[in-house]
Amino acid sequence: MNAAIRAVVRTGIFYHIEVVGVHLGYDGLIDNEMELLNVRSVANILSRGGTFLKSARSERFRTPEGRSRAFENIKNANIDALVVIGGDGSFTGADIFSQEHDLPVIGIPGTIDNDLAGSDYTIGFDTACNTAVEAIDKIRDTASSHERVFFIEVMGRDAGFIAVNAAISGGAGAVMVPEHDWTIDSLIEKLQSGAAKKKASNLVIVSEGNSLGNAYKIAKLVRKKIDHFDIRVTVLGHLQRGGSPSNSDRVLASRLGVAAVEALMKGKSKVMVGIINKALVLTPINEAVKLEKPLIDEEFRIAKILSI
Ligand code: F6P
Repeated sequence: MNAAIRAVVRTGIFYHIEVVGVHLGYDGLIDNEMELLNVRSVANILSRGGTFLKSARSERFRTPEGRSRAFENIKNANIDALVVIGGDGSFTGADIFSQEHDLPVIGIPGTIDNDLAGSDYTIGFDTACNTAVEAIDKIRDTASSHERVFFIEVMGRDAGFIAVNAAISGGAGAVMVPEHDWTIDSLIEKLQSGAAKKKASNLVIVSEGNSLGNAYKIAKLVRKKIDHFDIRVTVLGHLQRGGSPSNSDRVLASRLGVAAVEALMKGKSKVMVGIINKALVLTPINEAVKLEKPLIDEEFRIAKILSI
């Protein structure tokens, strides 16, 4: 997100547009926590994870009163347009806000979940996958030395993008995602087939939104039915949401930040900037949130073939 903010600020200044930073997301709009940013305000943040402006899941912005207050503050500050960097929740808020109030709004997709339609990848996804793979590689050392089965839970909310990508690059024995159902029996069958083929370790990547529950629950269900696997669980959690962004994420964020300002200058509004097949694409914000973005079948197929 820092790389995207930096790009918005510097592009604005490049085109002689003033850019104001809002602290703590929508809460900052409601509480009037805004600050004029300059070129130096965004120096040395490109390599830092998170957002120097800070963020919040704002309950008050869910109410019409909260949104009216935010709009009043925006008008009083003579702000002409809003750039929102975020995921599902931020864009749902932006969509409602732009229907209620007359203000151009542009969205930049920033979520590790990669679950927004309108961009092949969202900012943060690549870094989160790299972190997951680094962790999986380390866990594999114990798994193979001790001949254990590991259930490794990754984030992604209701989408399995992180899980499938981490499964391919981490060489997992199975991947459990919300988009494809498993039963405990089919999972046990898969583990047994791995054991029969003398797999020294078996790593199962569990996406947090899968239909069988979290990694601890799945491990318990498997142990209940069969006791000869030595099972351990690792939940990667918020490790995946931090750290220095990857090259791909920095480039994506920079490109989308520039695109957001240029889209506003062309009079665009209520759209999200994204990259599809290397080209810049504008998608209505309400579609980016509502349209299904299917898992790339090819990736799922590859993960399955290589997990034998
Ligand atoms: O949407 C990003 C995400 O990291 C999800 O993958 C995860 O389910 C959720 O946010 C965690 O949210 P919180 O930090 O509020 O617990």
